[in-house]
Amino acid sequence: MSEQVFQGHRAVTIRHLQKHIGEEVLLQGWLYNKRGKGKLYFLQVRDGTGIVQAVVSKDAVSPEDFETAAKMSQESSLRLIGKVVEDKRAPSGVEIQPSRIVLVGESREYPITKKEHGPNFLLEHRHLWLRSKKQMAIMRVRDEVLKAIRDFFYDRDFACVDSPIFTPNACEGTTNLFGVQYFDEMAYLTQSGQLYGEASAMALGKIYCFGPTFRAEKSKTRRHLTEFWMVEPEAAFYDLEDVMLLAEDFVSYIVRRVLQNRREDLEVLGRDLSKLEPASQTPYPRIRYEEAARMLLESGDETFVPGEDFGAPHETFLGNSFDRPVMVTHWPAAIKAFYMKRDAANPELALGVDMIAPEGFGEIIGGAQREEDLEVLEERIREEGLPEEAFRWYLDLRRFGSVPHGGFGLGVERTVAWICGVEHLRECIPFPRMLYRIYP
Ligand code: 4AD
Ligand code: MG
Repeated sequence: MSEQVFQGHRAVTIRHLQKHIGEEVLLQGWLYNKRGKGKLYFLQVRDGTGIVQAVVSKDAVSPEDFETAAKMSQESSLRLIGKVVEDKRAPSGVEIQPSRIVLVGESREYPITKKEHGPNFLLEHRHLWLRSKKQMAIMRVRDEVLKAIRDFFYDRDFACVDSPIFTPNACEGTTNLFGVQYFDEMAYLTQSGQLYGEASAMALGKIYCFGPTFRAEKSKTRRHLTEFWMVEPEAAFYDLEDVMLLAEDFVSYIVRRVLQNRREDLEVLGRDLSKLEPASQTPYPRIRYEEAARMLLESGDETFVPGEDFGAPHETFLGNSFDRPVMVTHWPAAIKAFYMKRDAANPELALGVDMIAPEGFGEIIGGAQREEDLEVLEERIREEGLPEEAFRWYLDLRRFGSVPHGGFGLGVERTVAWICGVEHLRECIPFPRMLYRIYP
């Protein structure tokens, strides 16, 4: 017997039940919740694509099957054969009237109950917490974001060319690297695929890399993970303006896709769509660092020091000043990475761009036009005291047909958190890795 066919019935997922009204179908899933007594039980069944109510009446099933339903406990797995009946009041639009109920796997004393659990308890049970309504909704939005990312670049002729995860050197500064023993030498888990992405862009023109990145950040904020996913487009012949146009097209496209295809999930999450919708339209506002700094000072913020990077409260203030993401450009070069090109009009400034999301969700994109001149870049590497030998290959890109180029990195979890309206990044990745957490 195939897994998907049971007693002659083909399995249908809850998402597609609407197309089977009036038919007898096989449903396979887990018991999310149960009500009822006596001659009638209401089983809330979930299968990952949705939740549907099965109304089990004593007259409609065998005494054994009725007993099974009566005894079944939360998160038991089951198979149902039943008729799909239209029910306009139900979120799924239908309910099931079972004629057969089969217990597949028991679930005794499921630890996550309806009562409130603290975040530590839930994180300790992340492998089960994922089965909760809200968590499933976040994972489905994340899935839509991942697919939208790939579609966006595929449709615009950006090839996916991935960067390695084991690397011999740092990309975004040396303080937050995870070192690993690589046979007889030391290697590091990548903080960003960008430098390799630049090499790939010199080969294929427009590329993106997309994978997990690692930062040994000792910060416990809700916006930091030690392992997170980043998508990094890089394009030959792009200047800062091109990078910004790409970034706003990209982010607005992702928002539109989620609004189109994952509205139900956003509803489960209680997302205020009126706050998200403006981000589905371009252009996005743009301000220079200087102007952002002035806004902060005028707001009476006493923690901000001009010339320094923005902290979380500063990003929150700036993000809240606009109805959609804002792009901040022309940063003090001293606080930005060695590879950023300097502004010809003022070499103290770097042609970097950060995109800050509204509603306090912070920076979602960091990017820049890159320095393409060999001598200038060699000088930068020396100034920063970086190991020149490790960058030999990177400098080759400036030796053999160097061109202006640029790109950015978008943090997937930050983007999902913002779109879902979820405060903490730890709910936006299936198994979060943080300063004090590597289990489960
Ligand atoms: O601004 P970052 O550090 O930029 C880079 O790594 C560039 N090399 C990317 C490029 O130009 N190709 O990181 C990019 C984004 C941030 O804007 C943020 O969304 C996310 O990655 N990010 C994190 N997300 C979760 N946890 C962390 N610890 C993160 N650090 C950065
Ligand atoms: Mg950044």
